[in-house]
Amino acid sequence: MTNLLLAIESSCDETAGAVIDVETGKILASLVSSQIALHREHGGVVPELACRNHSLDLPPLIARLVEESGVKLKDFRGFAATRGPGLASSLLVGFAYSKGLATSTSRPFFGINHLEGHLLSPFLDNGETLPEIPPHLSLIVSGGHTLLIEVRGHRDYHLLGQTLDDAAGEAFDKVGRLLGLPYPGGPEIEKAAKSGDPTAFDFPRALRREGNYDFSFSGLKTSVRYTLEKLPQPQASLADLCASFQAAVCEILVEKALAAAKSKSLPMITLSGGVACNQSLQNRFRKACASHNLVFRAAPPDLTTDNAAMIALAAAYACKNSLEDILSLGIDPNLKLA
Ligand code: KG4
Ligand code: ZN
Repeated sequence: MTNLLLAIESSCDETAGAVIDVETGKILASLVSSQIALHREHGGVVPELACRNHSLDLPPLIARLVEESGVKLKDFRGFAATRGPGLASSLLVGFAYSKGLATSTSRPFFGINHLEGHLLSPFLDNGETLPEIPPHLSLIVSGGHTLLIEVRGHRDYHLLGQTLDDAAGEAFDKVGRLLGLPYPGGPEIEKAAKSGDPTAFDFPRALRREGNYDFSFSGLKTSVRYTLEKLPQPQASLADLCASFQAAVCEILVEKALAAAKSKSLPMITLSGGVACNQSLQNRFRKACASHNLVFRAAPPDLTTDNAAMIALAAAYACKNSLEDILSLGIDPNLKLA
């Protein structure tokens, strides 16, 4: 038997697999088969399409992964898959496949919380050993979640705040649609914002003075819609609209994360999830953390959006701490992290 573990991620519209060395935390192979182009014509993810394509894409992806890692299936140390949260039909495909591999090889199985994968992704450093998870403030910003988590160590997670309505990524996608940009809106808005003025429009920063760590982005989206309706030529202001919207989202994320880290005396902030690849957001965090003497760590750029390397890393920690799951465990589309 080797130290290699194979992990599958299929919670939404990316079919992904990765192989990790559980002792060192090194990723040996990581493949993502994206369905974005497929869902783009529908303006968002269509669950039935996602599920069907996971079923088609997963077997050849796993075959390639096994070939790339140069190890026979029977020699893997264990298998893992995302257990939730996510789309039920999508989760089922990867989860059942991975459990099948574990059963047929009599190896342990690890059902992983997708959000724990995001949370740990800033610690994927391909070093010599799995790094200790230090106390820190984790901000997870994805298409489905906006969470502020106090992390005290591995599996010691405490929810401090979350969005009360739309997730940050969801807000980017909905505003992208309002502006006539292709799905997903996040990267498109970031691109257009580069040549825009972030102070051109004064969009709201919700729950700013409430003294809690919750977020709300649906009012911001509505404000963009009203602004658009009043503009005689919205397309002429596209860059300014994008830059101003992006500034409103980023500013409130940085402000609340900083306040939470300070109030809990946490010396580090980590940023993960799809929205974390936004460079304007990263730059704001880098600046704010530097001026408040906090360490800042973001997930590597290719591992911010959904991937299996982060699921493999979470499984490596679970394996190291002998936290294998029973095979009767099922998926949980509403699985909570804390
Ligand atoms: O983590 P992820 O791949 O999937 C979920 O678990 O939800 O996140 C996808 C989200 C989408 O809403 C997408 O618009 C957003 O991440 N995103 C971005 C950027 N790249 C992806 N948002 C802002 N700026 C970006 N550059
Ligand atoms: Zn995700």
